[in-house]
Parts: sequence; C-alpha cells; structure tokens
Amino acid sequence: MSDTRVPRRRRYLVCEPRHFAVQYAINPWMRPDAPVDVDLAQEQWQRLIRAYRDHGHTVDAVEPAPGLPDMVFAANSAVVVGGRVFGSLFHAPERRPESTHYDTWFKTAGYDVYRPESVCEGEGDLVWTGRYVLAGTGFRTTREAHREVQEFFGHPVISLTLVDPRFYHLDTALFVLDDDNIAYYPEAFSPGSREVLGRLYPDAVLATRDDAMAFGLNSVSDGRNVFIAPQAEALSAALADRGYVPVPVDLSEFRKAGGGIKCCTQEIR
Ligand code: ARG
Repeated sequence: MSDTRVPRRRRYLVCEPRHFAVQYAINPWMRPDAPVDVDLAQEQWQRLIRAYRDHGHTVDAVEPAPGLPDMVFAANSAVVVGGRVFGSLFHAPERRPESTHYDTWFKTAGYDVYRPESVCEGEGDLVWTGRYVLAGTGFRTTREAHREVQEFFGHPVISLTLVDPRFYHLDTALFVLDDDNIAYYPEAFSPGSREVLGRLYPDAVLATRDDAMAFGLNSVSDGRNVFIAPQAEALSAALADRGYVPVPVDLSEFRKAGGGIKCCTQEIR
C-alpha cells in the first residue's frame, strides 16, 4: 500500500539553532531554569536538515540573530502560499524582533511581505491544506488575523479553537499528511472545532495524548515520508498502516522550548 503514496519535493526555510536557549517562559513547556544541551540541539537539528535533503527536499536558511533564542522556530514567522508571503506579528514581545529578520530574508529572495496588523504566528497557527487554511486561535494567533489571512490569500480560512495550553499552536495538535488528509489530536480542540474537523476529514488519523505530548503532531509530511518524533509510537504505527513512511527524527532538546520538527520548518510554496 505504501507504493500508492507519492512524495512531492518541497522547499523548506529553517534557521540554525546557534543562539537557541530557554530564557523566558511563554508556553507551559518552557522552564528557564532547566538547561538546554546546546551541542545536542545542534546535532539534532543538523540531523533533521540531513533527513530533508536525503529525501530530495530543498532547504534554505535564515541567518540566526543573537538574543533571539526562539528564532530556530522558523514556522512561526510567515505562511507562504502560491509565492505570497503573509508575515508575522508575535504575541510575546520577546519574539517580536524575529519577524524583521525573516521579512528581510524574503525580500532579499525577491518576495513581497505582507505585515499583519493582528497577532499572527505564521505556520504555527496557519496550516495550508492544499484547499484552504486551517487557522488556530485561543493562545496566539487572533481571529482578526484569520480574517486578514482570508482577505490576503482569497482562500477560505477555517477558524479552529485550541483549548489546551500545552497545545498552544495549531501545529502542535494537527498536521497535513497530503492534499486529502490530516492527523490531529481531538482533545486539543473545542467541541465545535472538533466537529468541524470531523466533517472536513472523516478519515483523519487521530492521535493519542501520548502522541501529542511527544510532539508527534508537530510533524512534516511530503505526502509519503512523515518526519516525526520517534516517541510518537502509536501515531507512527497508525501512519504506517495508512501507507505513509515514518522518518523518525528526535528533536528532544527543542521540546524544552515547546517546539519540534514542524516548528523548526517553514514551507515555501
Ligand atoms: N518557544 C516558542 C514559543 O513558545 C516555541 C515555538 C514553537 N513553534 C511552533 N510552530 N509551534 O513561541
């Protein structure tokens, strides 16, 4: 059955964790007193980049800036669909300067960047499915931003409410497998949002709490290969049953900041 899944070559934007650290707490995973193993973080991140390249994907990198320890989480800085860049406005003042660095990278690469008026954290909360944008709110990105996203792209935006502070970004609770399907953790969503997801994706792969706590929903799929935390065992098995190929990549050091594979990866479409 896995022969039926066809990967598509992707272009990813990343940022090396040269200045990665946990220096403040803006989500329940962050403990500024618990040290990060900087060398291990570097190694884990390099392995992710190698895995992308080994699977035929293009990886571009933004130069990391000192004093911005979360800048490694490239997903939060923009969402790009059809070559149009919708930038970011971070909720936490500590992260606000990151936007300018990413905007500059995009401008240098020849893109115009739209700067949102409302708080909006890029692909952390805005997930392009191939048909519409699934948009998270509740902790970071606002409903006003959802309206701006719809106006900007002219694609339908479906607002989903997150209810568990551990899953503060949509990309910690849901990811897109391919043009037809997604995986998600139902309990991270309000009852109404759960119902919406059930209607849109009756065939979705549902994750357990353990999968979600292991950042298994913070995965990246190319349509066939799913770059996923090795600790998300049940979810990896469920994906394999559906013909996807789990590619385990351990980013345990980044979990200390509330991040994982998808957080470190922005897709340029
Ligand atoms: N420490 C970062 C924050 O709380 C982690 C961001 C994770 N990124 C993501 N796409 N979920 O903002």
